[in-house]
Amino acid sequence: MERPLTEHIRKDLRPLTLKEYEQVGGYQSVRKALKDMAPKDIQSVVKDSNLRGRGGAGFLTGLKWSFVPMDSSIDTKYLIVNADEMEPGTFKDRLLLESAPHQLIEGMIVSAYGIQANISFVFLRWAYKEAANNIRFAIQEAYDAGYLGHNILGSGFNLEMHLHTGVGRYICGEETALLNSLEGKRATPRAKPPFPQVSGLFGKPTIVNNVETLSCIPHIVNKGADWFQKLSLTNDAGTKLFGVSGKVRTPGLWELPMGITMRELLEEHAGGMQDGLKFRGALPGGASTDFLVEQHLDVKMDYVSIAAAGSRLGTGTMIVLDDKTSVVGFVRNLMHFFAQESCGFCTPCREGIPWIEKILTSLEAGKGEGHDLNLLDFHTKYLGPGNTFCALAPGAMEPLQSALRYFRKDFEQYIAEELPHTTDPLPVKRN
Ligand code: NAI
Repeated sequence: MERPLTEHIRKDLRPLTLKEYEQVGGYQSVRKALKDMAPKDIQSVVKDSNLRGRGGAGFLTGLKWSFVPMDSSIDTKYLIVNADEMEPGTFKDRLLLESAPHQLIEGMIVSAYGIQANISFVFLRWAYKEAANNIRFAIQEAYDAGYLGHNILGSGFNLEMHLHTGVGRYICGEETALLNSLEGKRATPRAKPPFPQVSGLFGKPTIVNNVETLSCIPHIVNKGADWFQKLSLTNDAGTKLFGVSGKVRTPGLWELPMGITMRELLEEHAGGMQDGLKFRGALPGGASTDFLVEQHLDVKMDYVSIAAAGSRLGTGTMIVLDDKTSVVGFVRNLMHFFAQESCGFCTPCREGIPWIEKILTSLEAGKGEGHDLNLLDFHTKYLGPGNTFCALAPGAMEPLQSALRYFRKDFEQYIAEELPHTTDPLPVKRN
């Protein structure tokens, strides 16, 4: 089984130096692209590969790039890698950033060439200190070796690359809030359209792609679109970094073909549930996805199949819920996160999520009232798609709405004060 993204990651996780990376074929795609390919050839191979964005939304990468104007009169275009990984339960980009920085930089150079961007940024999560050190070092090595800067490898193509560390806010991962943050403004999302591909950083055409997405690019350029498609077991191409957290035997991260089943991921790779615990459900791709339950265990982990099952592949990093953990506590914990991370710009999100958190907290404390479930149902619609400025609140509603659908009895039991057994240290307080 091929694992192009992680093949050269060492067991001790130390990143390869530029020399070591070149010895295993590193930067070949830059040579190939700049010598033998026109920007439109790069765009074509990426489009044909069917690569979908690995940040969570799964938008087709080639399609996104095709919106960038290629008019030579445009003086500045930007490429930004969104490395602000803050989705709960998600730690896949961290591995690539810390342990394969040159692969990302290589992907950025080829992608920038493909859209003819001359300035690039790594927008990095503040807390990823080791990644910052490794990326900074690798960027300098790439400059010293002539892969970055002026007239790269004598091709006439120029590219600057800058590392920018964020301030530790979830909303900065939303691409237009990220742009505002990078411009030194308050990190609130912008209205779309215009999409950043047309009017992004400082009003210039800008592509924002995820770390894993851009790390796929060197391999696609070197080995072709067909090869990339065939890595997958289904129509959604490539391999994927899948993660599992929760009370499984061996939580972790694996590069696997797109389209493996949830069961395989859970049982073969994560080792199944810990002794004495049963699987109740899982959020398949970070916290802002809908629960899938036992009946979905044979669903294929790809964008189309997971959507057909009523959820989203998201970041592909699954959070598992067991039968001894309180569902209400689990969801309340997520709502606490989303309430804290709301940027406060639009009213439904700013006011609605804290209200949900309060209702769930009071349920847990045995102070629930009959109409609380109706209120929660109401909020899932009121904060759903189309009612808020960005995807934060609709994303937050996904675990809640699906928990209310699949585990409604648990919520009702809290109201009836027949609390489900839990091993969690819940702050259950009674009058
Ligand atoms: P989105 O679907 O609005 O956009 C995804 C990408 O496609 C963007 O780059 C956007 O510019 C482009 N796009 C979408 N529609 C387009 C159109 N009509 N024309 C041109 N371009 C278009 O999703 P969004 O709000 O960017 O991301 C939400 C996702 O982010 C969620 O699915 C969530 O799973 C994920 N997420 C991931 C995090 C992480 O740490 N990796 C953190 C927070 C959220």
